[in-house]
Amino acid sequence: MENIITLGIESSCDETSVAIVKNGREVLSNVINTQIPIHEQFGGVVPEIASRNHIKAISGVTKEALRQANFSMNDIDVVTCTYGPGLVGALLVGVSYAKALSYCLNKPLVGVNHIMGHIAANYISYPELEPPFLCLIVSGGHTHLVHIKTYTDFEILGKTRDDAIGEAFDKVARVIGLQYPGGPKIDKLAKQGNENSIELPETYFENLDFSFSGIKTAVLNLYHKNPDTDKANLCASFEKVVTDMLLNNTKKAAKQLKIKRVALAGGVSANSYIREKFIEYGKSEDVKIYCPNILLCTDNAAMIASAGYYDYINGKRSDLTLNAVPNLKIQ
Ligand code: KG4
Ligand code: ZN
Repeated sequence: MENIITLGIESSCDETSVAIVKNGREVLSNVINTQIPIHEQFGGVVPEIASRNHIKAISGVTKEALRQANFSMNDIDVVTCTYGPGLVGALLVGVSYAKALSYCLNKPLVGVNHIMGHIAANYISYPELEPPFLCLIVSGGHTHLVHIKTYTDFEILGKTRDDAIGEAFDKVARVIGLQYPGGPKIDKLAKQGNENSIELPETYFENLDFSFSGIKTAVLNLYHKNPDTDKANLCASFEKVVTDMLLNNTKKAAKQLKIKRVALAGGVSANSYIREKFIEYGKSEDVKIYCPNILLCTDNAAMIASAGYYDYINGKRSDLTLNAVPNLKIQ
C-alpha cells in the first residue's frame, strides 16, 4: 500500500501545533508552540489573546514542521485540522489556514474532532494497538469513558455530569496559589504530600458517569476555612480521590464489557499519580494499560494528523464550508 502523509493542525486552545505523520502512526515532525507563558499572568486562557497568537504563530510553525520532516508542501497527501471542540476564535485560525492550504495544494481536507485526536495519541505511542479497547479521556474540557469499537465507531459509556477533571485540577490549583495550568503543578507538589491525610468526598452513580464539582467545592471550602492546610497533603489527597473515582468506573466498565485493554488520553493523563495507579490496576487484574507518551497527552498536532488519517481512509472528506464547532460532541 502506498504511504499516506497527513499534515495536522491544532489550534483549539493555547497551543499552536503543526505535525506531519506517515500512515497515521509514524510522527515525522510535531512542532508545538505553547502560549502558556502568555496566559499564565491572567490565571487562565484569554480567548482573544489566544486567537491573535495563533495567527502570529501558525505560518512559522507550519514551515518548521515541514523543515523538520524534510518535506515540501507538495509532499503532503491530506490536510487535517481540529474543527472542535474548543475556543471558536482559536479554532478558526487553524480551520482557515487548513482550508487555504488544501485549496492551494489541491489536496483533500479532513476536519478532525479534537477528542478523537486525544484517543489517537495512543496509536502513535503504541503502534500495535488496534480497536476494540476502552479509553478514558481526561482533559481540560472532558471526562469520558468510551468503548472504542473501531477507528471510527464509539460508544460513550459514561461522562462527567458537571466539571471536567482538568477544570477541577486547575481550579484547586488556583485557589491554593499555584499558577496556570494547575494540573502539572499539583502533580509535582502532591509527590511531597500524604494522600491519606485529608478526607475528601467521592461521588459515584449507578451508571458510569462522573462528577467532580463536589470534590472541587470541598477542597475550596476546606482551604478557605483553614488556609494553613498543608498544600502538598491537600494536592495528594485530591489526586487520590479523583483517581479512585476514575479507577472505580473504569474497572466496572472493563468487567461489564470483558475488555482487557484500557487506554488513557487527554492532558490529565500526563498525571504521574493517575498513570501509576492505572498501571498498578493493570498488573493486579491482568489488564493491559496504555498511557501515551507525556508530550502526546496534552494538545499537539500529531494526534490530529493520526486521527485525520483514520478518518481519511474511512472516506471522510471536508470541503471549504468547514467551520469551527466550539461545542462539537464525540457523537
Ligand atoms: O488535553 P489538554 O491539553 O487540553 C484540553 O483539550 O482540554 O488538557 C489540559 C488539562 C489542563 O486542565 C491541565 O491542568 C491538565 O490537562 N494537565 C494535568 C497535567 N498536565 C496537564 N493535570 C494533572 N496532572 C498533569 N501532569
Ligand atoms: Zn485537548
